[in-house]
Amino acid sequence: MTKQRLYSGMQPSADSLQIGNYIGALLQWRTMQDEYDAFFSVVDLHAITVPQDPAQLREKTRRTAAQYIAAGIEPSRSTLYVQSHVRAHAELAWILSTITGFGEAGRMTQFKDKSQRQGADATSVGLFTYPILMAADILLYQTDVVPVGDDQKQHVELTRDLAERFNARFGETFRVPKPVIQQETARIYDLQEPTSKMSKSAESQAGVLWLLDDTSVTAKKIMRAVTDSDGTVRYDRAEKPGVSNLLTIYSALTGRSVGEIEDEYAGRGYGDFKKGLRDVVVAEFEPVRQRALELLDDPAELDRVLSVNADRAAEVADATLAAVYERVGL
Ligand code: ADP
Ligand code: NA
Repeated sequence: MTKQRLYSGMQPSADSLQIGNYIGALLQWRTMQDEYDAFFSVVDLHAITVPQDPAQLREKTRRTAAQYIAAGIEPSRSTLYVQSHVRAHAELAWILSTITGFGEAGRMTQFKDKSQRQGADATSVGLFTYPILMAADILLYQTDVVPVGDDQKQHVELTRDLAERFNARFGETFRVPKPVIQQETARIYDLQEPTSKMSKSAESQAGVLWLLDDTSVTAKKIMRAVTDSDGTVRYDRAEKPGVSNLLTIYSALTGRSVGEIEDEYAGRGYGDFKKGLRDVVVAEFEPVRQRALELLDDPAELDRVLSVNADRAAEVADATLAAVYERVGL
């Protein structure tokens, strides 16, 4: 039986990924690559929808790819490539933009939030059409499943609508994908502001745990994480967001249930609990960090791997794009 196809990706928007990307995406991808024929992209075309520095972008793209591999995505088994290396993404995005309603695109809540924060003149049209490029990413590979955070669910819904619309208008061309929404329990919050999602584009870095940070920096950030004055290690998202977040991280990295961890630390202070978590995180990150740095030490080899993978991706993508051109009359 042929495996179902999976597509996911992340923007190269920072030098390092953060623990939310690791738990919410990379760990799931690593598991899913056994069951699926998986395509994992570093979506650099998405990253240029906001102001960026070219030399830094190239570096961040390499670093992001290195972290995928270091975290266990195997480029010999999954297709791990850089989006801009496959020309079909931009080409299909153009065609899909011609069947997307202006109002339909305008209803995307992520765009509304981001553009409101930036102001209309600082917002690019590329940021507006971002979800159409994302639809192209997914549809090019005849994808069955798309693992995403719940903030991306609306974009996958748009992707499904565009696939169905294209198929109805021009004939059966695209597989209609399904989103796999990340568990609420896999959502990680900022260590200093535990009601905001941890993000690699956060303004303050004090509460962000970076995969490539030195061990001592990671340890300090955990020991300084915001908690509360109640003193008991107990999961309660509403009343104890800081402690609950630390419990989520602990549980995700050890595979132990939150209840078990609460029992282990019953009657002990936050200091002990944080030291325990610090040891867990450092033990998890250190080999990943070492491996990523090794890969980055040999950029020619990393580029070779990415190039082979981009060729593999292009083979699938070009076949879809050729069918699309044919159907549309191009
Ligand atoms: P970021 O906010 O760090 O820039 P993205 O929005 O680019 O992250 O998301 C990349 C992937 O990482 C997505 O699959 C997303 O669901 C996951 N992810 C990002 N932040 C978190 C988080 N705080 N907790 C869990 N998963 C996250
Ligand atoms: Na982001």
